[in-house]
Amino acid sequence: MKLQIADLEFEPLFSHEAIQQRIAEVAQDINNDFEDRQPVFVGILNGSFLFIADLVREIVVPCEVTFVKLASYFGGTSSTRQIRDDFDLTIDIKDRDIILIEDIIDTGNTIKFLIEKLQVREPRSITVCSLLLKPDSIEHSVEELRYVAFQIPNKFVVGYGLDYRELGRNLRGIYQKVG
Ligand code: IMP
Ligand code: MG
Repeated sequence: MKLQIADLEFEPLFSHEAIQQRIAEVAQDINNDFEDRQPVFVGILNGSFLFIADLVREIVVPCEVTFVKLASYFGGTSSTRQIRDDFDLTIDIKDRDIILIEDIIDTGNTIKFLIEKLQVREPRSITVCSLLLKPDSIEHSVEELRYVAFQIPNKFVVGYGLDYRELGRNLRGIYQKVG
């Protein structure tokens, strides 16, 4: 079923059920890797709000959950390279194991910016977990990227937290732009 959002047409890519299935698998890996570490999950708002909510409900190791807010897109369908830093972490991350939760890694610019900013505060480790990765558009290698739920082609997507002109974040599934 096709979907119209503002001036663009979208078609289904991943169902809500497929997303939940993959999240459970990724969470299992994190549970295994972070036993006895009390990691801090840091959701990057706005796009990751649904992903982190569903992911942490599958986490069984003791953990903390907090957020930062960055914006890099400003309404279009391609990366602007300009990052707006809207709000910062409110906790001390020195010697902590940080897991950054991102909705999508496109060029890698946003996540690189955040990693560099947090590294100065001397966390014990920084690991990245992204719902989506567009391997064909990555411009910065992100060594910290350890968990990816889905690799997707270089096409604009919306839904399950991701927006087009701030619309579509509420959709249960993920949709890709037609054409
Ligand atoms: P990057 O800095 O190019 O890696 O872009 C990362 C940010 O751009 C993500 O956190 C998203 O907010 C946004 N973004 C990248 N690709 C898409 C997309 O296909 N749909 C919606 N937002 C996207
Ligand atoms: Mg984002």
